[in-house]
Amino acid sequence: MEGTESRGAAGAELVTRRETAAGETERANRAWWDANADEYQAEHGEFLGDARFLWCPEGLYEDEARLLGEVAGRDVLEVGCGGAQCARWLAGQGARVTAFDLSGRQLRHARRIDERLGRVPVPLVQADATALPFADAVFDLACSAFGAVPFVADSARVMREVARVLRPGGRWVFSVPHPFRWTLPDLGDEHGLVVEHSYFDRRPYVEQDEQGVAGYAEHHRTVGDRIRELREAGFVLADLVEPEYPAQLGDRWGGGWSAQRGRLVPGTALFVADKPAA
Ligand SMILES: C[S@@+](CC[C@H](N)C(=O)[O-])C[C@H]1O[C@@H](n2cnc3c(N)ncnc32)[C@H](O)[C@@H]1O
Repeated sequence: MEGTESRGAAGAELVTRRETAAGETERANRAWWDANADEYQAEHGEFLGDARFLWCPEGLYEDEARLLGEVAGRDVLEVGCGGAQCARWLAGQGARVTAFDLSGRQLRHARRIDERLGRVPVPLVQADATALPFADAVFDLACSAFGAVPFVADSARVMREVARVLRPGGRWVFSVPHPFRWTLPDLGDEHGLVVEHSYFDRRPYVEQDEQGVAGYAEHHRTVGDRIRELREAGFVLADLVEPEYPAQLGDRWGGGWSAQRGRLVPGTALFVADKPAA
């Protein structure tokens, strides 16, 4: 779970907001996640837990939230799974789970965790969320904890793809950085509370080298955009959850995920959407 406000990790890269060319976001993010997977898992692995389903840095877990409903005996797809921690929890609850990610290195970590735990390996697929390698109507549930959705240029296409692979009556739940975060700089102190960017500026955040080649790209949608993308894909929005930041968490996640900021503004938006029964 990286999220909008941990994104300065590329250090020397130049930061800008500009449109990305076709394929540029996918190339950049695949390379970025491959290069940064080791550091990401080393830094956040403990907080994520090997087999827990954490929705967001606010510490909301699926075993308390139950946004997916009953998972036992259901076919579940995890989108942008990283180390597949959520998928492992789902399998432990009796779900038949498949997990996929764009980054081969993230999937290596998923396999490494399975091996260390000596568990039945989570079925893993390397794929792009905008082109799912699955047949129509084969899953009951789909979920994503900060995976893929902010990292694609065309998130409307992800919504359509998820709708396609879900059975009628299925549910799709995903968490993303709260769109309001787009307006704020990535700072945990009071400077991170001063609006710096337009909420309405949809140009992606891009880290690029001196030749202008993108090394990382993150895409913004307003709350309204996300709701429309879901509706246009045929979903009905069941809930929009904005978890509050528990004071006792302190500054566990770093960057803009500080307790000071969490007291005042939302960090995560969780969309709960249903595909109507036929
Ligand atoms: C912030 S991590 C979230 C992973 C996991 N849920 C977690 O909380 O650690 C984002 C993940 O999305 C993956 N990702 C980025 N773009 C993707 C795409 N187009 N399709 C599938 N996965 C993608 C990244 O490789 C990365 O593993």
